[in-house]
Amino acid sequence: MATGTMQPREALAALVGEGLRDPYPLYEEIRAHGDLVRIKPGVMAAVGYDECDRVLRDPRLRVQDGDSFDLFYPQWRAHSSLRAYTDSMLYSNPPAHTRLRRLLRGEFTPRRVAGYETAIEQITDRLLDSLAEAGAGGAAVDFIAEFASRLPIAVISGLLGVPERDQAWFRAIAADVTTALEGITNASRLAPADAAMDDLAVYFDELIERRRRCPEADLVSSLVGVHDGGGGLGRDELVGNMMLLLTAGFETTNFFMAHALLLSFEHPGLADRLRAEPGFASAYAEEVLRFEPPVQATSRWAGADVELLGTTIPAGTKVVAILAAGNRDPRRYREPGRFDPDRPYTAPLTFGAGGHFCLGAPLSRLEARIALPRLLRRFPRIRPAGEPVRRDSWVGRGIDHFPIAVD
Ligand code: HEM
Repeated sequence: MATGTMQPREALAALVGEGLRDPYPLYEEIRAHGDLVRIKPGVMAAVGYDECDRVLRDPRLRVQDGDSFDLFYPQWRAHSSLRAYTDSMLYSNPPAHTRLRRLLRGEFTPRRVAGYETAIEQITDRLLDSLAEAGAGGAAVDFIAEFASRLPIAVISGLLGVPERDQAWFRAIAADVTTALEGITNASRLAPADAAMDDLAVYFDELIERRRRCPEADLVSSLVGVHDGGGGLGRDELVGNMMLLLTAGFETTNFFMAHALLLSFEHPGLADRLRAEPGFASAYAEEVLRFEPPVQATSRWAGADVELLGTTIPAGTKVVAILAAGNRDPRRYREPGRFDPDRPYTAPLTFGAGGHFCLGAPLSRLEARIALPRLLRRFPRIRPAGEPVRRDSWVGRGIDHFPIAVD
């Protein structure tokens, strides 16, 4: 079928059906109608790079928050997972967002994150040891269960100050709470997220109490210091943002690692370069992020009529910024459908843009820079041992099971 024969509405609907395996041709169907297009009454989509960037940076377009939930799903307060997210910075707008972000951003500056390098190397090496053990004699192992899902949780747990013995529980609970990141589009699937959030709140309250009595050099201790010092961080905000930090970097970094490995299998020459050239991992990771973003799209709401790039966005409209489509905008990237880590660095939209730009971007980039070359060097014979099983979701694009052999 020639591009442009589908209506944008059909293409967007197909993204959660036939498009789950390969959504990229559907983005081109939408792009054929424009870079910022009306999908149906009350919904628009941005697929151009500049259009996504402008949507995310425009303060008149707001993230979903308690007020917008009230309009579209008044029962949302019955869900503890949604309540916790609305206490976090990702689901708040200025002035609350500005205040929360100011309190947390100092913990995630590139300089602060660089200080975690040795700890991440140690965690990676420990996980590679257990991968080697599980895959001894050529046994098939699941890369997701054994490595990709463990690394981000171990790293964020270390940062927060969650003891190692609790991390397996933490990983399971984070997976359940993360469902709520899809918000009210998935209200029927919120029961496990709510149960997980209730357990997590009890766990965080105990951890907070322990650190209050006996502070350590971790993030929870500094946040408790801000809370107790009258720094404007309430108890619910403290717990909501701890939960956000736990979940925002979990599946995303997991999916990032999975695609990085999958693409290295498809491009063995690049895998060899990752083993041999110490500096290459940065460019490689950046191209994985552009090519296969773990978060394909995010959205904003127009509180009033907004004029943007010559288009009127009527009040009450939801604008879906399809980051993955912006990352393949031919006006920005030459041959956008080609995986090419040698292309000049041109800032993919994968971590968003503007006020809500991902706080954990330096951290997940560092994890990838450390883990990828170590993984490939440690296992020169690493190879697929079956078909990867994709996650059944459009916005969170990733892999649930990825059988590999390492020995
Ligand atoms: C490859 C990995 C990751 C991807 C693709 C990713 C993607 C994103 C995106 C697209 C946003 C902006 C959403 C929007 O504007 O609507 C975001 C926000 C955020 N991310 Fe990440 N993220 C990743 C890893 C992490 C990690 C490791 C952490 C923390 C440890 C983290 C913490 C956050 C936080 C706290 C926000 C909210 C910032 C705010 O609202 O001001 N992320 N992320």
